[in-house]
Amino acid sequence: MSNFKRSRRLRSSATMRSLVKETRVGVSDLIYPMFVVHGENVKNEIPNMPGQYHHSVDQLKSAVKEVVDLGIKAIVLFGLPEKKDEIASDAYSENGIIQQAIREIKSHYPDLLVITDVCLCQYTSHGHCGLVEGDIILNDESIEILAKTALSHAKAGADMVAPSDMMDGRVSKIREVLDNNGFKHIPIMSYSVKYASSFYGPFRGAVKSAPQFGDRKTYQMDPGNRLEALRQIEYDIEEGADIVMVKPAMAYLDIIRDVRENCNVPVAAYQVSGEYAMLKMAAQQGKLKPEESMVESLTAIKRAGADMILTYFAKEMAEWIGRNN
Ligand code: PBG
Repeated sequence: MSNFKRSRRLRSSATMRSLVKETRVGVSDLIYPMFVVHGENVKNEIPNMPGQYHHSVDQLKSAVKEVVDLGIKAIVLFGLPEKKDEIASDAYSENGIIQQAIREIKSHYPDLLVITDVCLCQYTSHGHCGLVEGDIILNDESIEILAKTALSHAKAGADMVAPSDMMDGRVSKIREVLDNNGFKHIPIMSYSVKYASSFYGPFRGAVKSAPQFGDRKTYQMDPGNRLEALRQIEYDIEEGADIVMVKPAMAYLDIIRDVRENCNVPVAAYQVSGEYAMLKMAAQQGKLKPEESMVESLTAIKRAGADMILTYFAKEMAEWIGRNN
């Protein structure tokens, strides 16, 4: 009689492994980020994000068709304005790039859930997520503009707004402005736990939003902090966040778990541009198996506690799920 346990019994075949699999990523867990630019006939690959594109509004119908055909139910939009200025005026202009993109997409795909990133950094000449005075990033003045931006997205037809600026009080300000303007039904997905991360590098290149002075450390979180994440979700939920987000994902799996266990609203995780680029480029150089590394990374994020994942792999993952389930 042996006195050890035979764990390998449940790993003996693909069928058995499938039966006891604890975590599966489904297509409905995936949110696909897309980048919209001015111009016509633009479909340009983003240099540091292989496989991701800048699309002009006229290209969105076909680009979004691919997404919808794969069964993906939600996208999140990022825009590159024609001009940037001190006060981010293109962020809330009725004919801004995101506002145009929403109208175009919703006219063709009314059932696709269109989420908008609400932030100023793509629209400000200085590249900060709020308004600045000297070298100070203003808080209370910024949340007014952020709320105005969120309202303009809702008016254009967005299904959900996602503030990513990390100014204090922006969730309650956005809630108040949406509610007062007939958008009580529009939910807020807050980038509640957003770290000051180096993994946003490729994204900042893609939207030309790197800060022109200083860094984002006076508003984004210190990567060493864990309890602070719990304070952030507490404040955001109190202010009216319907969904809270942890960002980045792979370097913060413990935080995703902490957040999942410490609140009762849905938790999103964002596998950001640097995480994508890292995996993608290693795979392109033959250093990692592309599909296996993608599936493993997304499974880990889900296992950590994410109820949904924003990922540049959404299309490839949806394809993989289609072939493997
Ligand atoms: C805007 C914003 C950023 C990302 C999403 N929204 C960049 C930043 O905070 O600098 C990063 C997304 C990514 O890296 O994929 N504030």
